Amino acid sequence: MKNLLAPSTLEFTHHRNPAALAEMERAEILSDPGFGKHFTDHMVDICWSARGSWHRPRVQPFGPIELSPAAAVLHYAQEIFEGLKAYRHEDGSIWTFRPEANAARMQRSARRLALPELPTEYFIESLKQLIAVDGDWVPTAPDTSLYLRPFMFAKEAFLGVRPAEKVNYYVIASPAGAYFKGGLSPVSIWLSANYSRAGRGGTGAAKTGGNYAASLVAQAEAYDHGCDQVLFLDSEENKYLEELGGMNIVLVKKDGTLVTPASASILEGITRDSILQLAEDRGHRVERRQVTIDEWREGAASGDIVEAFACGTAAVLAPIGTLKADDFEITHEGGELALSLREELTGIQYGRIDDRHGWMTRLDA
Ligand code: PLP
Ligand code: COI
Repeated sequence: MKNLLAPSTLEFTHHRNPAALAEMERAEILSDPGFGKHFTDHMVDICWSARGSWHRPRVQPFGPIELSPAAAVLHYAQEIFEGLKAYRHEDGSIWTFRPEANAARMQRSARRLALPELPTEYFIESLKQLIAVDGDWVPTAPDTSLYLRPFMFAKEAFLGVRPAEKVNYYVIASPAGAYFKGGLSPVSIWLSANYSRAGRGGTGAAKTGGNYAASLVAQAEAYDHGCDQVLFLDSEENKYLEELGGMNIVLVKKDGTLVTPASASILEGITRDSILQLAEDRGHRVERRQVTIDEWREGAASGDIVEAFACGTAAVLAPIGTLKADDFEITHEGGELALSLREELTGIQYGRIDDRHGWMTRLDA
């Protein structure tokens, strides 16, 4: 749904949290943030209605959202979200990475879920507004960041099945350390034999809660097999690599070629796109095409495929050490290219390396 009524700017009102954490308490959280466990003092809240478009933008105390038990999202899961990070640079300034790409993806997700499209400038402004009050929550330790989680859902109290006419957009923020407990050590992946994440014509390419709900039993199976993440294959032929529960996947060949699945039912990761760009800049060939599990298996056995890695905003980039399946296992040693691309990407994100692609946006000015 396009918003023809949208004004060109939004005037945010700020309602300060009287119970904001004291500096000491915040510092303790920031010293070991984990992932997704702690939240900042404020959140952004913007309303949308079919008649009035986007309105009442505000920054308010982080806290419960009042919701009718008949709110459409609770019944029909009309919801989308995004994930990006705020990085503290050496000089104290606060930046984020390719927010216009997240805004565009949220618009694509909105179209698929019949939700209103939030204009890119509102999306970026909402992040700046939150950082204006919660900037002190952006940690300073190496490899830490403030994870920003914009999301939008159907708030209308109505049990008929149709696109909601009342929707809210929010942004919450959560200080983040490493996504995987093992830090940079290689992760293990479980190949899901029984479950698909998405199918043709479905919502796989949208960042919507239902895709993650559909992945949970498969992810639980991965944990049961001692693995960190689950890998899904395509739902029709059960042979082409798709993606992990919350990350994209890339294979590296002996000749330096990077191969990654092309599929209409996976989430087009901004981290993957950026890493592949950095690899191309270095002269690596990049192939975005269908990849079968047999190609990986045989390539790993013959030495033609030498590395594999997972990538996404939360995880950044993690070498895959093992893929476990019911009846076979693939292992990779090292992960040199993966780690060197991770170093370059994070170098740009944390302002240590020149941002030659113009990927960074300052949030605190
Ligand atoms: N695939 C899935 C299912 C994800 O949840 C994510 C994380 O957001 C990604 C891929 C990677 O996307 P991005 O690099 O934009 O974070
Ligand atoms: C992200 O990387 O932003 C995600 O949404 C993935 C999720 C596993 C936290």
